Amino acid sequence: MTSSKKYLSVFSPSTARQRQENFENYWDFSLAHSGELLESEQDLTHKRVKLQAFKAQPVQLNQPFRQTEAFYRNVVKLVDDPGTLDRKTLLLTCIYKFARHEWVGITGAWAATPNFASSKSVTDKISRYHLAEEFSHTRLFNEMFCTFGLNDVQWTALTPMQQLVYEFFPKLPEDWMSPFAFVTELMGILFYRNLDPLFDEVFADEPEACARLHALLDEITIDELAHIGQRRNYLGDFGIRFSAWITPLLFRMFFSDIPEIRHFFDVEKMIADALAFDYAEIPDYILEKSWVPSYCVAAA
Ligand SMILES: [Fe+2]
Ligand SMILES: [Fe+2]
Repeated sequence: MTSSKKYLSVFSPSTARQRQENFENYWDFSLAHSGELLESEQDLTHKRVKLQAFKAQPVQLNQPFRQTEAFYRNVVKLVDDPGTLDRKTLLLTCIYKFARHEWVGITGAWAATPNFASSKSVTDKISRYHLAEEFSHTRLFNEMFCTFGLNDVQWTALTPMQQLVYEFFPKLPEDWMSPFAFVTELMGILFYRNLDPLFDEVFADEPEACARLHALLDEITIDELAHIGQRRNYLGDFGIRFSAWITPLLFRMFFSDIPEIRHFFDVEKMIADALAFDYAEIPDYILEKSWVPSYCVAAA
């Protein structure tokens, strides 16, 4: 079911004052949504409770996962002919490769941003919370793998050049970094929204596991939807135009690094959908728990 509210494009214009008010509003939302920051553990109290709830109710598979060895062989780098892998294995290694980029990105950003005690401005506090939410997503992705008995997934570094880019990126001045940060969030939500229906197709014979994957992904999507609005809120008119301009290039570059993508996703359609993104296709039950900037909602 989709929302009865009318949404505007995420690329809609906004004033500096609206953006300041929205940061304050987003910060209130974050505290209520994620709870207290557990800085040394890169975690948040509400996120921890949700993860524990998933772990307390493990899912029963109809059949044991068949390609465990193939999964571990291909998870970091696809080495087998994809035609020899079943769709479950291929989709799980695809998810890992996407999430691995996120893990490397947030690890670099965590090292480059002030800790919470030194965060004076509302945007510094938001940044720290945002990264802790991203780390909680890594745990939720891990839980997806654990659903299939894949309990030994390690998050590993990318190539030295890619590592350098991810370490350099958060050190850029905010105005330069913001369009790139916004587009990566947009890329995330497009990936998750396109991943969601794939679970029904690929895991049709494992209904319990399929429902668990949807539930884990919903937790991530609720946060990521809020992150899009939050990162959008850093952008003035030039930033928003520049973001739209770099969207096709960044999507193509990013997804070209994941060979599994072409077996499941239409990148050109994701680019078109990203440029037209306005929250309208997001179901109510996700939107109700998430956050949207005030200037992306049409006046009643
Ligand atoms: Fe993320
Ligand atoms: Fe995010």
